[in-house]
Amino acid sequence: MNQNRFYTCLFVATVFLAWSLISLSAQSGTTETTLHDFMEDYTKPASKKAKKGDKAALERILKEVPNFALDEQKGKWKEITDSALASGDLEGSCKSCHKEFKKEYKKNYRKRPIQVPNELISFLKGSK
Ligand code: HEC
Repeated sequence: MNQNRFYTCLFVATVFLAWSLISLSAQSGTTETTLHDFMEDYTKPASKKAKKGDKAALERILKEVPNFALDEQKGKWKEITDSALASGDLEGSCKSCHKEFKKEYKKNYRKRPIQVPNELISFLKGSK
């Protein structure tokens, strides 16, 4: 009887440990997508929310977006998003960046994978 209890405890502890590790890695990993899909699935809805006054999601996105840029464009992208964040005109960044970079990116890098931190995705899903 005592021994059965011991094994039950051990089993419960193991399951709990495995579950913790899985959820931890889900939180700390990344999800592969494309910039196009990230823009459609997360940036667009976040922009709608920002227009209604809730800017938190779009701010988080703009902080992250330069990390998705091609190496040689990272600096420029960060300038655009930083100045939008500093001025509070978040929507201005869409036009600035799209005007300069979107056409070429779409043409040459439409399928280029980007890695989005899962932590950001779960934040954005929670704030939808
Ligand atoms: C720093 C650069 C940058 C910023 C800032 C940015 N985007 Fe984009 N966005 C892009 C690029 C590059 C593409 C093209 C991706 C592709 O098609 O592969 C794109 C594509 C899109 C698309 C896909 C449809 C289309 O027009 O091609 C949507 C929707 C979009 N962006 C919404 C937004 C919104 C809304 C904002 C502002 C709140 C924003 N983006 C800010 C770079 C940016």
